[in-house]
Amino acid sequence: MKGLFISFEGPEGAGKTTVLYQIAERLKAKGHAVTVTREPGGIPIAEKIREVILDADHQEMDGKTEALLYAAARRQHLVEKVLPALEGGEIVLCDRFLDSSLAYQGFARGLGMDEVLAINLFAIEDHMPDCTIFFDVPPEVGLERIWKDQERERNRLDLEKLEFHQKVYEGYQEVIRQDGDRVRTVNANQPQAQVVENVWEIVSSEVILHKDS
Ligand code: TMP
Repeated sequence: MKGLFISFEGPEGAGKTTVLYQIAERLKAKGHAVTVTREPGGIPIAEKIREVILDADHQEMDGKTEALLYAAARRQHLVEKVLPALEGGEIVLCDRFLDSSLAYQGFARGLGMDEVLAINLFAIEDHMPDCTIFFDVPPEVGLERIWKDQERERNRLDLEKLEFHQKVYEGYQEVIRQDGDRVRTVNANQPQAQVVENVWEIVSSEVILHKDS
């Protein structure tokens, strides 16, 4: 692949989406072609799957159904948007990817990280991000941020209890233990301008490494 694939991960309210857009602007200002996208979503089919998964009325959704829907959305988004952009040499910044499924469905829902990895490997084959940035914020701080944000729509997963979000956080810690070379952690419990600088340091060094490889 000619391009560079970077995913942004973290618990709810970690601030990753806002930072991602600022990083994309900096990369574009330096002349890079950038695709900004998100999971679940990013393309019409996956946005429709997103609506089904996150609909607050769908309380009866089974955990395995949820995991399979995330994997299906991931597959379509990968083949329709991410891979073509990478083939074209672009930098792809993706708001969430596989690690979200490992932390949320595998660990927090208790489906098993290996089981969730298996269905996802069917979906993504060997297309892993070159680098993943984990926005580290205590789950209670992240949740407080999203509850204060009046404009944010409350989706089905936001409505889970603090205990679930604490498990999501633990799930991410497990992912980092297992794949620490790929995942870089940023302290997201500090002023946003500082978070942007820390993420920028990582992204710009990845861009240089990629150019030299
Ligand atoms: P967002 O709030 O970052 O847009 O993500 C939507 C929600 O979906 C969020 O609560 C995290 C959750 N999610 C999973 O549970 N598994 C996944 O694989 C993905 C991509 C997101």
